[in-house]
Amino acid sequence: MSAVSPAQDAASGGWIVLKFGGTSVSRRHRWDTIGRLAKKRADETGGRVVVVVSALSGVTNELTAITDGAADTAQRMDALERRHREFLAELELDADAVLGERLAALRALLADPRAASRPLDWQAEVLGQGELLSSTLGAAYLRAQGLDFGWMDARDWLDALPPQPNQSEWSRRLSVNCRWEADDGWRERFAAQPARMLITQGFIARHQDGGTAVLGRGGSDTSAAYLGALLGARRVEIWTDVPGMFSANPREVPDARLLSRLGYAEAQEITTTGAKVLHPRSIKPCRDSGVPMAVLDTENPDLFGTVIDRSAATVPGVKAISRRNGVVLVSVEDIGMWQQVGYLADVFELFRTHGLSVDMIGTSQTNVTVSLDPSENLLSQDVLSALAQDLQKIGRVKVIVPCAAITLVGRGMRSLLHRLPEVFSRFGHERVHMISQSSNDLNLTFVIDEADADGLLPQLHAALIDNGAMPVQEAEVFGPRWREINGAVRPRPRPWWRGERRRLLDLARAGTPRYVYHLPTVRERARQLKAVAAVDHRYYAIKANPHPAILRALVDEGFGLECVSLGELRHAFAALPHLDPKRVLFTPSFAPREEYEQAFALGATVTVDNVELLQRWPETFRGRSLWLRIDLGHGDGHHEKVNTGGKAAKFGLSAARVDEFVERARTLGVAIAGLHAHLGSGVETAGHWRLMCDELAGFARRIGSVGILDIGGGLPIPYSADDEPFDLEAWAAGLAEVRQVHPAFELAIEPGRFLVAEAGVLLARATQVVEKDGVLRVGLDAGMNALLRPALYDAWHDIVNLSRLDEADEGMFDVVGPICESSDIFGRRRRLPAATAPDDAMLVADAGAYGQAMASTYNQRALPVEDVLDGAAG
Ligand code: LLP
Repeated sequence: MSAVSPAQDAASGGWIVLKFGGTSVSRRHRWDTIGRLAKKRADETGGRVVVVVSALSGVTNELTAITDGAADTAQRMDALERRHREFLAELELDADAVLGERLAALRALLADPRAASRPLDWQAEVLGQGELLSSTLGAAYLRAQGLDFGWMDARDWLDALPPQPNQSEWSRRLSVNCRWEADDGWRERFAAQPARMLITQGFIARHQDGGTAVLGRGGSDTSAAYLGALLGARRVEIWTDVPGMFSANPREVPDARLLSRLGYAEAQEITTTGAKVLHPRSIKPCRDSGVPMAVLDTENPDLFGTVIDRSAATVPGVKAISRRNGVVLVSVEDIGMWQQVGYLADVFELFRTHGLSVDMIGTSQTNVTVSLDPSENLLSQDVLSALAQDLQKIGRVKVIVPCAAITLVGRGMRSLLHRLPEVFSRFGHERVHMISQSSNDLNLTFVIDEADADGLLPQLHAALIDNGAMPVQEAEVFGPRWREINGAVRPRPRPWWRGERRRLLDLARAGTPRYVYHLPTVRERARQLKAVAAVDHRYYAIKANPHPAILRALVDEGFGLECVSLGELRHAFAALPHLDPKRVLFTPSFAPREEYEQAFALGATVTVDNVELLQRWPETFRGRSLWLRIDLGHGDGHHEKVNTGGKAAKFGLSAARVDEFVERARTLGVAIAGLHAHLGSGVETAGHWRLMCDELAGFARRIGSVGILDIGGGLPIPYSADDEPFDLEAWAAGLAEVRQVHPAFELAIEPGRFLVAEAGVLLARATQVVEKDGVLRVGLDAGMNALLRPALYDAWHDIVNLSRLDEADEGMFDVVGPICESSDIFGRRRRLPAATAPDDAMLVADAGAYGQAMASTYNQRALPVEDVLDGAAG
């Protein structure tokens, strides 16, 4: 073990190991960064630095092709040489002086008699040349910049472990593990190298026979980790071309959060189940020797990155969601050998015979199902057919392919199961072939059809990580979002209420709880929608907020009104006595017969959504012109409770019964003039309406009499700073495109939320501030009776202390109401001024939609008052 005491290490400032991958060493400016970072680390710690590098990008692939016996070895060698010479020219270095010898050595290896039979020791030597070349040119460049860099051969410092009994010949040479416990004198010898900073190769090590061995793919990370462990380094930094590890693959989930801090075991799990940023093998040496690791971005060296160490928060919580594609499930049914000793051994023996390594296993009385991971196995059709043929002897075999394994990673998954209803409800729509929970309590995996996995990750991420449903302290674990880091965030505009603070404080003094609506904001949203040329008819879903001033403002802006009850119809005509009934839709659900009759009498356009009402009340509908609401078989929305499409929803005529409806309508002389669909509210999926339009057009063509397609409402708004504002332009462009495909139909929309949510705030007064078991709560005089959305949908609303708007939000409170229900909570762990106190005026933002409209007098608490602001700020 170490011969250098920790005290000596500290005195020397200790070592920092920096690893740079292929893309980080292939450009001149990247080498400038490497030099700058190495010097900075040495200066700030007063210690020393080892830089570990990969080969220039693509070089290892070329060398692999050569060791695999590619026919065009000579051309490949020429290209490799040209590549390095050109790069040296970019670095303004003399190619012959710097790499002449190394290139000659590589040519000699290719001319070596061993090249004919390609033995493994020769392969290792060839493969290792890429790193020898890159580290040599790097050392020359860094020295030319005046930096004190020494070059070292990694093989003098990393020793491959003796072969393990089960290890194949191949992995004994080409995928070795190394010793990472320093023996006597190792550290002194290492430290005796004169230069303050050292550069060496990743990927290569000394074989026991004195030759070269390589560490396998991702080997440079592992080399850095071995050196870090051997040196007892302060830190191993893995420099990549991404900002760190993320809570999901950012390409699939742009909202993925940077993981600021992880424990070793969690990091191991994340790298094993998906993220390719860090090689899983590199974690163990650092974990066992307690060396912290960091994943950092060479292009953005000042970003914080991901730190992996022992100080990571130990609270349970889902930290990452990953997806592996191409998973194969093999299921064996009706195993007649149940309870017979060794039957599982027989099954698995066959997997071994076919050289397949099994990933997950599920068993029952009559079935064994295993998953095969494509990254661990060569899953060709031939191999699978041969396996299936052998397994047939044991039972009925089903190969399910392609599947996707969706894994939730985080500490304490077992204790979180009860918090995963959202996950189960999402998976409820798919066919889950297998669920597996790892015994280390760090991973929960669902295997589903690959096609079903599309679009699922963003939804799971939103449900589990975005909404803070998990008890992981946000700031400690989660950093910024991918799209924030990439500057792809379109900021939310400053909300109107910031400019109306004085008026709002006056109103709050006059009495709370109180809703205040800002008509200029309503008009602004209306005009945004009016500007969308693809839409011919716009209606406002008055259920969102039926305040008469809002109805009048929207009708003035050219909107019609969409009502869902006789009460709403009467209310609309009372607020606007001269409203043209042609501008009114009636779209009820399970309404009594009289409501349809009254709606016809008022002259509204009636939408129906089932055959049964035509059967039961033929006289109500005979000879009428109707719109038909169809369930397109899929739904969406910000919460399961607002998803109005698909089998589980009560809305809409099943697509399977459209012909029956048309037939019945014909016998009653009913004309189907419009088709309607509304499949959910707060829908973030961009292509949602475009798809609906396309699908409705298909039905419309079949029916013949239809002139209008109503694609409902559902447009979302950004409720939190993390939400991106709805991309109206992309929405409009999608509709314009689909209209061109179906020019025969006019298009109608009927949004509610989008028009009014941001226009409304709920003002409340703080009643009490109470500490209990470490949780600080501020109580408001408004509760779920005033605004039900947080209690009903776990909906997020920003909450601010209007009385202390200028103070820093340094306190953390749960914001609760006065209702005798545990769900009477507006928000948990909200940042507010630490001095927040009783009588402060509090503002709950974006409460203009489904606020007062859903309020009640539960607990005999009065309904909030309502005010309307129009015109300039006072
Ligand atoms: N059209 C129909 C037939 C609807 O049922 C709805 C809303 C809309 C249009 C307007 O949807 P919007 O554009 O507002 O998403 N209380 C829930 C929302 C329920 C929506 C009910 N139907 C919430 O607070 O999120």
